[in-house]
Amino acid sequence: MQLLDGKLTSNTLKDEIAVEVSAMLASGGKKPHLAAILVGSDGASETYVNAKVKACEKVGFDSTLVRLEADVSEEILLNEVRKINENPAIDGLIVQLPLPKHISEIKVTETIIPEKDVDGFHPVNLGRMMLNLPSFLPATPAGILELLDRYDIETSGKHCVVIGRSHIVGSPMSILMARNTKVGNCTVTLTHSRTTNLKEISRSADILIVALGKPEFVTEDMVKEGAVVVDVGITRVKSDKTKSGWKLKGDVAFDEVAPKCSFITPVPGGVGPMTIASLLKNTLKSAKQS
Ligand code: GUN
Repeated sequence: MQLLDGKLTSNTLKDEIAVEVSAMLASGGKKPHLAAILVGSDGASETYVNAKVKACEKVGFDSTLVRLEADVSEEILLNEVRKINENPAIDGLIVQLPLPKHISEIKVTETIIPEKDVDGFHPVNLGRMMLNLPSFLPATPAGILELLDRYDIETSGKHCVVIGRSHIVGSPMSILMARNTKVGNCTVTLTHSRTTNLKEISRSADILIVALGKPEFVTEDMVKEGAVVVDVGITRVKSDKTKSGWKLKGDVAFDEVAPKCSFITPVPGGVGPMTIASLLKNTLKSAKQS
């Protein structure tokens, strides 16, 4: 079993991005600039947004963090988005999800102009992805592709099973793994809460990508010997062994599943850091295009 080390790989990627930023500055360009909007003070969202801002600093990007109260009106949030859309100094904008219930995520997503939608969630970017046209790919699926690529995992002709059909991960992942691209050309099965024979399907996966947000859902009996397992889940669970009072758990029962795998991502240190690196990559691309 070999670990797919997202922390190490994302550091390599960030070093490569930092070199590109230095070259852009040396030739008279400006620093790429990412803006993030955080609504409310959910602990996990706060951690993710802070990690994104810190990663910007590390590679030499500018960043702006806009914090809004949890009870902010949808219209005020949409106006913040519009202001950033129109600000030529800012190359990319993300609105951290989930949003409070009184705000429509789709309205917010559709208000971000596709040219600054470095999360790749706008219908235009998702549509372009479907057609294999240049677009911003959603950061988590893009990070997984990059990780599989950098570890030279053969995907062509393999059976890839995706568990979870979210708009952010599972659905785009299933499309990307089936595309006729270097990492792609899989036969893909997308499974979800209504799938009746999940164990049978997951056991036939050469590549198993799990993104449903249920800690340790995938057990040893659901995985084929020699499979490549990618765990997207990051759930905070209570723990009396840590100072914070919680620890992070993936969707895969790592200790029992790992010995069966050819490759597996750890949690933390697998997909999470790759998501952030992909977001930076999208922001760099946007800065080059503007
Ligand atoms: N919440 C969970 N994942 C993501 C992500 O990739 N982007 C944003 N904006 N919010 C998220």
